[in-house]
Amino acid sequence: AHAVLKLNSGHTIPVVGLGVYLCEPGAQAYEAVLSALRLGYRHIDTAQVYGNESDVGRAVRDSGIPRKDIFVTSKLSIRNWGKSRAQAAIDESLKKLGLDYIDLFLLHAPGSLDTRAETWAVLESYHRQGKLRSIGVSNFGVVHLEKLAQTAQVTPAVNQIELHPFLQWPRLVQYCQSKDIIVEAYSPLAKGQKLDDPTVKQLAQKLNVTPAQLLIRWGIQKGFVSLPKSTVPARQEVNLNVFSITIPDDDMATLDGLEADFVTGWDPIRDAPV
Ligand code: A2P
Repeated sequence: AHAVLKLNSGHTIPVVGLGVYLCEPGAQAYEAVLSALRLGYRHIDTAQVYGNESDVGRAVRDSGIPRKDIFVTSKLSIRNWGKSRAQAAIDESLKKLGLDYIDLFLLHAPGSLDTRAETWAVLESYHRQGKLRSIGVSNFGVVHLEKLAQTAQVTPAVNQIELHPFLQWPRLVQYCQSKDIIVEAYSPLAKGQKLDDPTVKQLAQKLNVTPAQLLIRWGIQKGFVSLPKSTVPARQEVNLNVFSITIPDDDMATLDGLEADFVTGWDPIRDAPV
């Protein structure tokens, strides 16, 4: 259950991770992470704005699993853009997580162009110090990536975006893959809003899997990292159990045909300033 991809930083990343967006800070986030780790998850995706980094850190430590075997991602809130704020906020993330290093740390969104380059440079310096093993971005469109490339010394290891058969960003995905930037899918289940889609249901039935497994597996076969969120252990288990599934090419093509530009939340890629 630990299939991995290689990042351009040289580190590996487990292809399924637990997303903890909307896991309530406190017991809910703590229990969700602990249960996922017990079920075999080795990748947890949090962020400063989720407010649950300390719960994630506590669960990671309490799990008894060696630190090196767990991949932890967090993200810099756009409230913390700019050199000194970014430095303080990264120190704060390390402290809240209670970790010596974070496996992957992302700019959470494009933020403002005024401070984006200097904020990225802060991530680069923490990366050089070994405190952020890999660094990347989230919610970036092609224009944001191209602008960043003009000043960056380190190419982002990943771009984490909302991604599922109903929202596929083909041009952006193609761009990232051509630059060796791994694409990470958040809300791979379209926040649960497409599990009843007739095509999804029918294909899942045919392949003898659940609709959630079909959507997660689609992303993995596309070469993405998939970050389904669930606080329910039984669903966490189902969502991780996707490594013995094969979606045949013609069924992949059917899923590819579901593109509908269906955004479940705010659309930072289109709405962020260049
Ligand atoms: P819950 O946390 O109660 O399990 P996404 O990852 O696309 O953002 O989707 C998350 C939503 O989908 C949450 O509401 C989550 O609810 C629900 N969910 C997660 N896994 C499953 C599953 N296997 N079956 C049904 N719903 C799920």
